[in-house]
Order: sequence, then C-alpha cells, then structure tokens
Amino acid sequence: MNATITGTGSALPAKILTNADLELMVDTSDEWITSRTGIKERRIAAAGEYTSTFAAEAARRAISMAGISPEELDLIIVGTVTPDFPFPSTACIIQNELGACNAVAFDVSAACSGFIYGLSIADSFIRSGRIKKALVIGAEVLSRVVDWSDRNTCILFGDGAGAAIVEAAEDLKGILSTHIFSNGSCWNLLYQPGSGSRNPATDRSVDPALFFINMEGNEVFKHAVRAMEEAALAALEANGMTASELSLFIPHQANIRIVNATAKRLALPAEKVFINLHNYGNTSAASIPIALDEANRQGWLKRGDSILLDAFGGGFTYGSALLRWQLDPLNS
Ligand code: ACO
Repeated sequence: MNATITGTGSALPAKILTNADLELMVDTSDEWITSRTGIKERRIAAAGEYTSTFAAEAARRAISMAGISPEELDLIIVGTVTPDFPFPSTACIIQNELGACNAVAFDVSAACSGFIYGLSIADSFIRSGRIKKALVIGAEVLSRVVDWSDRNTCILFGDGAGAAIVEAAEDLKGILSTHIFSNGSCWNLLYQPGSGSRNPATDRSVDPALFFINMEGNEVFKHAVRAMEEAALAALEANGMTASELSLFIPHQANIRIVNATAKRLALPAEKVFINLHNYGNTSAASIPIALDEANRQGWLKRGDSILLDAFGGGFTYGSALLRWQLDPLNS
C-alpha cells in the first residue's frame, strides 16, 4: 500500500508583529533582523488563542480539501513543543474538536522536525496496512515560551499551524520516502528547561526563565545546515535522484541563511526553494506544513512534481520527506 497527501491546510493568528514593533521592545533593528535572519514579521496568538485553535482550523481546511469527513480519520498526529497542556495531548483535543471519533490521537515531540516525524509515522502506518486515513499537523504557539526581553531569541519565532491529510492509495505513490534522524548528544543546545520533571513548577516559586527557550544560536546554525544536507541527500539517494530533478525544495523556515546555505550545498537554484519565513518567522513544527499549504494554494505545485521537505530542530532532530505530488493545482 502507498500513501499520498490528499489535502493541505494552514491557519495563522491575525496579529502581526513587525521588526519595527520589535525595535520598540528590545535593542535591535529591522536591518539586523533582516540581514541575519530574513524575517520581516511574524504572527502572534491573541489571548484566548492556543495551539489547538490554529491546529483545528488548519485541520478543517485540509479535511475540506481532501473531501473526507472527520469520522473517516484513523489517526491524528500533532507535532508540537507548545501543546495546550503537558497532558492530555493536543491531538486528543483536536480529535474532540473535529468529532474524529474513530481516530487514535497522539502528539510527537520533535521540535521543528515534528511534522516530518508525524508524516513518517503516518506513512509507516499506512504502508503496513494498519490504517487508511491520517491527519498530520504541525502547530505551535511559541510566543508563550519566548523571553520577550532577549533579543537573541525573541526576533526569531512565530505562531501558527499547518496540516495534511495522508491517505492510502493503491496506485498513487505520493510519499516516495521519509527519513528521520536524532542526535541526542546536542539536546542542551536548544531546549526549554521548565515544566517537565527536572524543573517542575511549584506553588511556592516559579522562575519564568525556566519556561523560555534556551538556544546556542551559532551552534544550532552549524548543525542545522549539516543535518539538513544529510537528510536531503538521504532522500535523494534512496530514490536514485539528484537535486537537479527536484521541482521544489520546501525547507524548515528557520532563517534565510540556513535555507540558502543548505540550498547551496544541494546546488539548488533560488527559484526551486520555497520561502515564506519573511512573513511568519520560525514556527517550528508548523513551518513546513504552512509552507506546503501555501505552495499548494498559490499554484506552485502540479501533479507529478518531485517535492523535497527538509527539517531540523531541537533534540537535535532532523528529517526529510520526498513527495511525488498527486493533486492538480487548485485553480485548474
Ligand atoms: N539585534 C541586534 N543585535 C543582536 C541581536 C538582535 N536581535 N541578537 C544578537 N545580537 C548581537 C549579539 O549580541 C552579538 O553582539 P556582540 O558581537 O556585541 O556580542 C552580535 O549581534 C552577533 O551575534 P551572533 O549570535 O554571532 O549573530 P549571528 O550572526 O550568529 O546570528 C542567529 C544569530 C540569528 C540567532 C543565528 O545564530 C541563527 O539563526 N542561528 C540559528 C538559530 C535558529 O534558527 N534557531 C531556531 C530553532 S532551531 C531551528 O529552527 C533550526
């Protein structure tokens, strides 16, 4: 049995935080942020909006595009490091919101690689014949774990969600391969200290710093470029392809310099690299499915295209998925 993507969706907060807004909050400049990251603005969740808010909306849009009903879903996976709660999983909350009463639901903690990990799990379940229809979501509200007084990190991140429906298909081989990797020796280069069993909150003292993202930016940068190249090459090699045969490269949208350095190592021309990080910043697990949905809805993708998804994130985790696109452009 093969697996193929039959629908995509995304959802973003309405509130926009520009680089000019950040200039009023920390000692930074639009010029510094733009030249070091490529980011111009990001979306920020409003009070009363949670990770599940955007995840559910992105899921509804993907379900609508696939033309299925929520009851048909066998599996819901949410890649997130900012779940609504430590437990239950955000996936169970989404199951309830959608009325997907026949699905098994769980979250995957793989930071920015969460969507690729989820896609890989869904693909494996479908290939093994255990399930027929899966909903894979990447969703984050990172603005709630960012230290808004730390200019090294607060300029980087944004909120939002993206989703894909993955279905079993006898003849349509849509997901050609997935490759996922972990390098736990670097877990402490990018992490959130609080809320787990090492630094639990107590009712006597809660240090807010424990709940903010800790990051060694330069080290993360170097590892990201190397790992994304490795994951991309693994996908190409497994399929006997070269990068020149790709129709589109959709990398994790962390930083324009990471994207450009990875594309350069793969000898990919700029017109084959999808970039929307200037609008949304780094949305971690949501970045690839938001980009995939935008590429799909904006007519970048046509049936038969070879599309390479490539991610890297905290853990470290990294991975790739090579797709043969099986949907017609929406406006055709
Ligand atoms: N505005 C102005 N100056 C700043 C800012 C800012 N927002 N942030 C840092 N600086 C200063 C630093 O204090 C430093 O000043 P100093 O020389 O006086 O000490 C100077 O700019 C240079 O700092 P660097 O950290 O060397 O800057 P660099 O060019 O490495 O860029 C960045 C930093 C953007 C964080 C980069 O390392 C990066 O993108 N790393 C990857 C991090 C990332 O993407 N993380 C996301 C999670 S993982 C992932 O998604 C892949």
